[in-house]
Formats: sequence, C-alpha cells, structure tokens
Amino acid sequence: MSRILTGITSNNIPHLGNILGAVLPAIELSKKSENESFFFIADLHSLISQKEAAARIASVNSVAATWLAFDFDTQKNLLYRQSRIPEVCELTWYLNCFTPYPMLANSHSFKDKADRLSDVNSGLFTYPVLMAADIIMYDAEYVPVGKDQIQHLEITRDIVSAFNNKYQKEIFVLPQVKIDENMMTIPGTDGQKMSKSYNNYINIFLPEKDLLKVVKTIITDTTPLEEPKNPDTCNVFKLYSLLADANQITEMRANYARGGYGYGHAKMALYELILTKFEKPRNRYNELMSNTDLLEKELQVGEAKARKIAQEKLKHVRSVLGF
Ligand code: ADP
Ligand code: TRP
Repeated sequence: MSRILTGITSNNIPHLGNILGAVLPAIELSKKSENESFFFIADLHSLISQKEAAARIASVNSVAATWLAFDFDTQKNLLYRQSRIPEVCELTWYLNCFTPYPMLANSHSFKDKADRLSDVNSGLFTYPVLMAADIIMYDAEYVPVGKDQIQHLEITRDIVSAFNNKYQKEIFVLPQVKIDENMMTIPGTDGQKMSKSYNNYINIFLPEKDLLKVVKTIITDTTPLEEPKNPDTCNVFKLYSLLADANQITEMRANYARGGYGYGHAKMALYELILTKFEKPRNRYNELMSNTDLLEKELQVGEAKARKIAQEKLKHVRSVLGF
C-alpha cells in the first residue's frame, strides 16, 4: 500500500481550477485500492497571510466541504485539519534545528514573496519546515503537488537526509514528489490561468443567479452574432470543452462554425452544463456548509487517526533526540 499525502492551504473557497486541477485528480488517486491517502487542510500555513479568525474558519469549512462533496472516502483515507494535530508544531521545531539557514533564505518562493509582500514574517521564512513536518510525520511516500512546490519537496528531502544521517537510522521516510505532467491549466474568465489572485475564478458552488453573473463576465471578442466564430480562441468554448462530453463539444463547435450563434448562447450552455454536471456536489456542498456539525464529525474521524500516528512517531523522535 502506498501512502499518498497532500495539503491544501485554506485561504479561499476552492474554484473550478482547483477542483479540476487538484481535487478531482487527487480523489481519483485515492480510489486506487493500492493507495491510502492523507489529505489535510493546511490551516496553520494559512496564518502566514490570513490573520482573521472568521475568514479562516469559513475557508477551512469550504475546503473540507469541497472534498466531501466530491465523494472523498473518509473511511478508507484521512481528511483532517493540520492544526488539530499539534504534534506537527513540535516536530517542526526539531526539524528547524536540522535546517541550514541558507537553504530557507535561498528558496525561490521565499525570495519571491519577500520581495512582494508587506508582511514578511518568520512563518513565511520557515514555511517549508512546517511543510516537511506535515509530510514526514506520517511516513508519506508520494506527495502530489503543483510545480511551484517542487523546491519545498527538495527541502523536505534534504532535512530527512540530514536527520537520518546524523542518527544513522531511517527515522523518516524519504518522500517523493509526484507531478502530473498532463495536469491542465484551467483558464479563468479572462483567459489567463484561473487563480484567486487574478480574481478571474468561477466558484461553482454559488447560488444559480450569482453563478450566471460570473459566467457572463467571461471575456470574448466582438464578432457579431450572425458571423461564424473560432471556438479555439474562445474562453467560453475552452471552459465548456473541459466539462462537456464529446457529442456536446462537437455540437458547440458546429454552432460556432455555422454563425447565428452568439457568445451569450455559449455562456448560457456553459452555465447550464455547470449546473447539471455539478448538481450533486453543489447540493452536498451546500448541505455541509449549512450543517457544520456534519462537517466537524467527518473531520474528527480523520483527525483521531492522524493524531494517533503522529503521537507514535513523535514518541520515537523524542527518544532519538534524548527528550
Ligand atoms: P490559486 O492560484 O487560486 O491561489 P492555489 O495556488 O491555492 O490556487 O492552488 C491550489 C491547487 O489547485 C494547486 O494544486 C494548483 O496546482 C491547482 N490549481 C490552481 N489553479 C489552477 C488552474 N487554473 N488550473 C489547474 N490547476 C490549478
Ligand atoms: N504548501 C502547499 C501549497 O501551498 C500546501 C501544503 C502544506 C502541502 N503542507 C503540505 C502540500 C504538505 C503537500 C504536502 O500548495
């Protein structure tokens, strides 16, 4: 059985890009019988930039509800909040003392953020060490992440090697990064990569009226209604074809080529497709968000299992270190 682990920082409501690019592929992976998946909400990491309690709680709930709405099996796998396993903070301290300062100071992500952000706190600096603790606490073997996280995984591997070397024992498992080369980049309403930082995202869980409003903001060219249109340069068509089946795609292509079919029609078709395609997850998500007791129960199942593993691991680490 392979142990797969990944975390999602809770700093927003997952959008269509996150769902198609990260949530659904991870859930597919978790369904394979040979895998056991640990998926957690990195709420401690969110404190680096998010200082408002209410916003954090809303985002944590929203991320958890998204995974559950897409049928993540919490009996076979683990879903938990990082902060509910406080052992991870203790392990982070130990790992800090095995992490050379220049390794963190030279990290691309730190340098890039330190140049851009007004709040450059120590949490931002030691972020990769907490991430290493998240991973090696559970002996994770594979860590599926986006390309921007590759360097963080290299830091984790360096810390593991330093630690194991010092004590001449395999105390921590050396994790491997898992990058999906075919991972699509989902375009946003303006055609750039969909991202919360560009404010071009589609939240598929919105009430119908608001969802339609967002779909209507997708940027198109000014080709008049009567004229044929090129589907391959159209953002509406790109998004539609990520969700539609082969027949629906052929039909929309023909509509574009024929003329007399406006972008308004295409947007309506996309909106309706989102509603039908995501009918079940939308209902389940809203049910969970309006009944957070249910959400809490689901999370606590994973947290109890994760905590037990973490406590055993820490016991061993403490004895190795002489604490
Ligand atoms: P954002 O860019 O909105 O801040 P995050 O960086 O929090 O999103 O991404 C969370 C996960 O979702 C990552 O695994 C990332 O690779 C994936 N993801 C985000 N945006 C997209 C997108 N437009 N297309 C595909 N995957 C995406
Ligand atoms: N840093 C990751 C991100 O922003 C989130 C994360 C935290 C994570 N801890 C992790 C991912 C451990 C994988 C493994 O996307």
